[in-house]
Amino acid sequence: MEPVRPAADPRADLRARWQAQDAGARYAVRRFRDPRAALRDPMLVERILDRHALRPSLKPVLDVPCGTGRLRAVLERRGMRWVGADVSPSMLAEAAASPEAALVLADAERLPFADDSFDVVVCCRLLHHLQEEELLEAVVAELVRVSARHVIASFWDSASWHAWRRRVGLRRPEGPRGRRAVSKRVLSRVFEECGAEVVDFHHSFRFVSQQTFVVARKRAAVPVRAVATRRARARLFDLDLPRAPESLGPAGS
Ligand SMILES: C[S@@+](CC[C@H](N)C(=O)[O-])C[C@H]1O[C@@H](n2cnc3c(N)ncnc32)[C@H](O)[C@@H]1O
Repeated sequence: MEPVRPAADPRADLRARWQAQDAGARYAVRRFRDPRAALRDPMLVERILDRHALRPSLKPVLDVPCGTGRLRAVLERRGMRWVGADVSPSMLAEAAASPEAALVLADAERLPFADDSFDVVVCCRLLHHLQEEELLEAVVAELVRVSARHVIASFWDSASWHAWRRRVGLRRPEGPRGRRAVSKRVLSRVFEECGAEVVDFHHSFRFVSQQTFVVARKRAAVPVRAVATRRARARLFDLDLPRAPESLGPAGS
């Protein structure tokens, strides 16, 4: 009889993926050998920053996962303070090769930063690796939590030509551990549940590029003081109310 293998842990799987000692060096040299492909994400991020008039602020910008730091230049060119975070020491080592990099070894599911620490949070090429919706929600919740204003994240659009070809069997499926496309509707709902409103989507070529960027704006949290005032007023109001006659019962029903 075949031995029963323990179920794969998608979280551990994903973290393990870029942990090899040479993962960073390989990613930097081989993954984006084609200079046009290498420029695509930074160009899209730059366009999004322009379109939404995102300028430097007192708070830095978080790039998570930063990988080898491909997006750093585009953000710093605009005067933004860049902080990179990634779960792979190998990728961070490659990012650290450029001078004065602010780098943090961190898991996107549990970012070691206080709420609203960053003006903008950028997340490039991670979401399509999250194989379960629960994982997607956990990561999006963290991105929104540590951002004070915007989250810019790339994902694989299920309405793209590539995703469609995979669905109808014209392209080899990647299997249960493969990358996963998600619909704009699902992603918008996840952001909404995490407290941010999706305000835009960007593609290089609509319906062709599977890699798409979503731009979400964090909803203003109800200030703690306003909540406290509302509660105090409600308490006062209760005190002013005439007591219900005993015969009506405690709830007046
Ligand atoms: C495809 S690379 C993208 C890197 C970079 N954003 C870019 O566009 O070049 C995916 C990165 O996600 C990182 N990663 C995977 N799971 C992570 C997690 N749970 N928390 C933080 N980083 C993670 C990997 O170490 C790797 O650097």
